[in-house]
Amino acid sequence: MNKEIKVLDNNKLESKIAVIVGTRPGIVMFAPIIHELEKQNIPRCIIHTGQHYSPNMDAQFFEDLELRAPDYKLNHVAEKKTHGAQTAAMLEGIEVILLKEKPRLVLVGGDANTNLAGALAARKLRIQVGHVEAGERSFDWRMPEEHNRRMIDHISEHLFTTNKKGRKHLLNEAVQGKIYVVGNPIVDASHRHVDLARRKSDALDCLNLKPGTYAILTTHREENVDFPELLRGILEGVSSAGARLDMDVIFLAHPRTLKRLREFEMLDWADTLPLIRIHEAMGYLDFLNLLTHSQLVFTDSGGVQQEACIHHIPAVTLRENTEWVETLENDANRLAGTDPERIVNAADEAFQSDRNWSVPFGSGDTAKQIAEICQEILEE
Ligand code: UD1
Ligand code: UDP
Repeated sequence: MNKEIKVLDNNKLESKIAVIVGTRPGIVMFAPIIHELEKQNIPRCIIHTGQHYSPNMDAQFFEDLELRAPDYKLNHVAEKKTHGAQTAAMLEGIEVILLKEKPRLVLVGGDANTNLAGALAARKLRIQVGHVEAGERSFDWRMPEEHNRRMIDHISEHLFTTNKKGRKHLLNEAVQGKIYVVGNPIVDASHRHVDLARRKSDALDCLNLKPGTYAILTTHREENVDFPELLRGILEGVSSAGARLDMDVIFLAHPRTLKRLREFEMLDWADTLPLIRIHEAMGYLDFLNLLTHSQLVFTDSGGVQQEACIHHIPAVTLRENTEWVETLENDANRLAGTDPERIVNAADEAFQSDRNWSVPFGSGDTAKQIAEICQEILEE
């Protein structure tokens, strides 16, 4: 007879970890952690939610970051069109796998719907949850990422923060879980791959670029690219900044952004903007190679703000706020929103900035620390 299972008793759980991935930044963040779990021989399974699925957002990252294929991959998530439907499909799919695998700990990382679904699936089954990059806040309540971060942090037993700022936010919110200040694994990934990227990637040759002569643009936030007037402001501002500073801007367009440009019938217009060169989003090694040889970065991405800081490239952030306020404080970054004039002024300032700031995201041993803590959790 089938027994209805609603929660998993602690004594039914196995001494292993389930790692939830599914988006481009999540694969980057978890790559060093997965490598470290392998190195320390910690039993694990990798669950891919299918949130990101295009080869340049997914498979290329597994290859570039030297990861084997995930143990599980959910189907039919890509076709879900709303936050609710997408999160629900992932929640349901992950739950089935957790019931089969019975891991003692589930790790999620960052702020995407993938992570909320993974954390919620585990929480409902009474499996412990560990949140990597816990405690980050933009305090922008329009953002789905801010909702996800807050919900995940409040249902996690183990909160891995980048630095003391994250810890402070978590203490202010009186979270239940235990807080560990460990740095951010994006630093580990950068350190591990930067030389390889420079050796292996031919992105500069393919784009006919000389090191130190160009800027990069990435934009994909729904608060920006889903609104034609804001997307127009970003592109006009970045094009004007390129003209003023006499540099090409390589616009590595996220699939969401390309889709919106087509829907708004703005793609041909964007293609003719002076200095802007549109290219599909690239894999991790090509991107890292382009980033580390660039002069300036325009972005609304969280990860790219961090990577610009890590590699001492000044950033102009196309948002009104950021989780990474430490990059503003150390002059690695400035907020410009979507107004063309502000973007040009911020680019001028960034261009002249002194680039010897300190990097506030840890020293590259975050994955090792997290794996060691996970081992202790499994042994408890
Ligand atoms: C998601 C995350 C965001 C993160 C970003 C990283 C949430 C709420 N948002 O936003 O925090 O910064 O990932 O890139 O989870 N698409 C493709 N191919 C893909 C992925 C997406 O074509 O591989 C298109 C689809 O049309 C899809 C749209 O992009 O509908 C948006 O994708 P989605 O995963 O919902 O959100 P992102 O904008 O990628
Ligand atoms: N990235 C990439 N190719 C690109 C743009 C970004 O490899 O064309 C990588 C970048 O190195 C960083 C990650 O994508 O590690 C950031 O992800 P994204 O901007 O999609 O999301 P966010 O960090 O804003 O959540």
